[in-house]
Amino acid sequence: MVIISYLLGSIPSGLWIGQVFYHKDIRKLGSGNIGTTNTFRTLGPKAGTVVLFMDVLKGTLAASQPYILGISHSISPLLIGLFASLGHTVSIFDHFHGGKAVATSAGILLAYNPFLFLVACLIFIGTLLLTSMASAASIIGISAIFIIAMFEHDLILSLVAGFLTLVVLYRHKSNIKRICTGKESLVPFGLVYYR
Ligand code: G3P
Repeated sequence: MVIISYLLGSIPSGLWIGQVFYHKDIRKLGSGNIGTTNTFRTLGPKAGTVVLFMDVLKGTLAASQPYILGISHSISPLLIGLFASLGHTVSIFDHFHGGKAVATSAGILLAYNPFLFLVACLIFIGTLLLTSMASAASIIGISAIFIIAMFEHDLILSLVAGFLTLVVLYRHKSNIKRICTGKESLVPFGLVYYR
């Protein structure tokens, strides 16, 4: 399950869709990230939507394995799903580089607790509405799930969300620097972009 999870997460949707359908390498365009935001930015909404769907699905499928095998009571779907997020960031198909772990982590949450997934989406959209920054929305979205998990005394979710929050923060180092210097690129959504 761990290997399947890692391999699923490793599928670099944005990179492959760019190369196959647009003959572009998105690692050399925009922010250089292979995730949803940079796919929207560099290849447009159609490709961006497909990559969003695929990256979420990778996490959901990976975390669903214990449910499918009927062993979710003894092996946590979150722990198995975690390897999909790691695959997404350290992909075997992208020379052990990869994305920023946001959409795939959301997919894991969707498999584990669809209601919390919805909460995370609402927090993400709310932050995006206020800041027009996908990076800020991602960081706040995943941190909020970590905080909620601690309040709910959900130990495994707290550990997994806490670890993924650290991964997301680390992978957003350059975004955080740009946010602090007022240079982060905005998405065409929300108050800051349209002010
Ligand atoms: O999920 C990635 C997003 O938070 C930031 O993407 O391309 O603006 O660095 P990007």
